[in-house]
Amino acid sequence: MAFDNADPNFRDDWLTVGPASRLAQATAQQPRATRLLGEPVLLWRDDQGRVHAGAGGREFAAQERYGYVWVCAGTPPARPLFAFPEYSEPGRRIVDCDGIGVAVSGLRMVENFLDMGHFSFVHPTYLGDPGRTEVAPYQVAVDPATDEIWATDCRFYQPRTSGSATAGVEAHYRYRVMQPMTAMLYKTSVPRPGALDAIGLFVQPLDEEHIVAYCLLAYFDDATSDTGLIAFQHTIFGQDKPILENQRPRRLPLQPGAEFPVRCDAMSMAYRRWLKARGVRYGAVAD
Ligand SMILES: [Fe+2]
Repeated sequence: MAFDNADPNFRDDWLTVGPASRLAQATAQQPRATRLLGEPVLLWRDDQGRVHAGAGGREFAAQERYGYVWVCAGTPPARPLFAFPEYSEPGRRIVDCDGIGVAVSGLRMVENFLDMGHFSFVHPTYLGDPGRTEVAPYQVAVDPATDEIWATDCRFYQPRTSGSATAGVEAHYRYRVMQPMTAMLYKTSVPRPGALDAIGLFVQPLDEEHIVAYCLLAYFDDATSDTGLIAFQHTIFGQDKPILENQRPRRLPLQPGAEFPVRCDAMSMAYRRWLKARGVRYGAVAD
């Protein structure tokens, strides 16, 4: 059967298939078709509005959470989907930036999202300054309670850190990896400098080398329109897309020493070690 031979790290976990708003018109008779882990998947809502997913006469576990639909094609994990408390925190605006298709492994996409070293080169005048390329040391640890990776005390000078920024700031960042293909980033809020805006990256693996990368904002920013915030994120993702699509191999090598980053990249190393410890094969280069 389809999915039976899939990497259990993905088959037996929740994967997003996109914003729940896309299923407004989808019914059991006229489902929405998508792809997950190289297989076709149909999505629909029932009369009660509950989301469903299935393929080939088999129904999968599905749930709606954080404005997105999540599907598990195998056995759902005992623990719930990762926590995202900022999603329902008073004072934050939720802005769905929807997705962008990228011809790359989802693991490469997440690694790029975690990497401050590329800001000055790939996002000049936005997230980095070509004259200030150095990444200051930061802390990386795996939280034993959740098995999530956290990078803390990250700092980087950014000429234009968000859609509402009018001057450069030393932005403070925290990164978090919840699943192999989901991550969050928390960064200095321009309108509320003591607070951190949250950006979620949810990757839908269409197959091993093709993804849709969704971006969800939980922002304190009330100075910028939804369109302005979305346009900013799409500008940034649009700068990353050609870089990601030119990476070879498209899958992420996990053998120690396979790729020596030119930069000091503790987060990338931690991410690859974490994937390897879980035995992740999908989207990775096998030993
Ligand atoms: Fe980037």
